[in-house]
Amino acid sequence: MSTVHIPILLQSIIEQLLPPFEAQPGTYVDCTLGGGGHVAGMLEALSRTPFADQHRVIAVDQDSAAIARAEVRFSDEIRGGRLILLHSRFSEIQTPEALPPVLGVLADLGFSSDQIDSPERGLSFRLEGPIDMRLDRSRGESAYHLLRRISERELADLIYEFGEERLSRRIAWRIIDARDKGQLPDSTTALAEIIARAFPPAQRFGRIHPATRTFQALRIAVNGELEELDHLLEHVLPLILKPGGRAAFLSFHSLEDRRVKQAFQSRAGGWKPLSKKPIEAGDREMEANPRARSAKLRVAEWMGEGIARTEGS
Ligand SMILES: C[S@@+](CC[C@H](N)C(=O)[O-])C[C@H]1O[C@@H](n2cnc3c(N)ncnc32)[C@H](O)[C@@H]1O
Repeated sequence: MSTVHIPILLQSIIEQLLPPFEAQPGTYVDCTLGGGGHVAGMLEALSRTPFADQHRVIAVDQDSAAIARAEVRFSDEIRGGRLILLHSRFSEIQTPEALPPVLGVLADLGFSSDQIDSPERGLSFRLEGPIDMRLDRSRGESAYHLLRRISERELADLIYEFGEERLSRRIAWRIIDARDKGQLPDSTTALAEIIARAFPPAQRFGRIHPATRTFQALRIAVNGELEELDHLLEHVLPLILKPGGRAAFLSFHSLEDRRVKQAFQSRAGGWKPLSKKPIEAGDREMEANPRARSAKLRVAEWMGEGIARTEGS
C-alpha cells in the first residue's frame, strides 16, 4: 500500500539541513521514515549536489510496515547504496561504521497519517479498532492491556501528564468504573464514548473531540514517546552527529516541543539553536494539510559536548 502521509515543512527542513554541507560527502539520518516524504526530498536534494553519489541517507522507523513500504518505494536508491533502512527505535539507533560522518538528522515526531488511518492500530478515536496504539506492534504492551492493570490514580496522573487534560480524574474514574463492572471497552470508539461522558454536555461536541487528549496520553505512555525523545536528544545524537552537524525536530504538541527547546537552549547541552522561535507552516500548507497546523520545527547545530562545556564554564 502506498503512503497517504504528506511531509510537513519539507522545503524548510531541506534548506536548514543540507546546504551548509553540500560541498562534502556526508550521512543524513531521518529518524522517522514514516511514509518516506522527507527521505524522498532529501535524496532528491542530495542528488543535485557535487558529491551526489557519495552521500548516504539512513532512514529509521520502529514500524515494520513503514520499512516494508519504503523497501518498495526506494528500491533503486537502496540498491544503489544511497539509502539504508533501519528498523529500530530512537533509543537503539546505531549507525553503521565506515560511512561518511553524520551531518544532519531529522526527527518528525509522533505518528504518520498511514498509522492513524489504519483502524487496526487503534490510534484513532474516530475509527473502530482494538485499543492497541503501539507504533511497533512486534513488542510492548497495548493500551488495552495497560488499561486492564493500571490503578485509577495512576491513570488519572498519566492522562494529566501526557494529555494535559484538566478532566483527567473524572475520565479515569469513568474508565475504571467501567472496568470494575466488567465493561472495559475493547474498541477505540467505545472507549472514546466513555471518555466523552466525563465531559459536561456542552463540551462534548466542540471543535476538539473530548477523547483527543486522553488518546494522546495513552499513545505517549504505550510507546514511551517522551523517554524516546529524551534519549535521542541526550544520548544518540551526541554520539552520531559530527560537530557542526545539524538536527531538525518537528513536534506536534507542547510536551515534545518543550523538551526539544530546553535541550537546544541549555548551554551545557552542546547545542546552538539556529533561531529562538520555531518555524511554523504557512497558511497555504496549513490549509492543504491540517496536521501542519500544530507543527513546530526547531533546528540546532551540534557543537560537540566538549566544546559546549568549555564555553559554558
Ligand atoms: C510523523 S511520522 C514521519 C513521517 C515522515 N517524515 C514522512 O514524511 O512521511 C513519524 C514516524 O516516526 C516513527 N517513530 C515514532 N517514534 C519513534 C521511535 N521512538 N523510534 C523509531 N521510530 C519512531 C513512527 O512509527 C512514524 O512512522
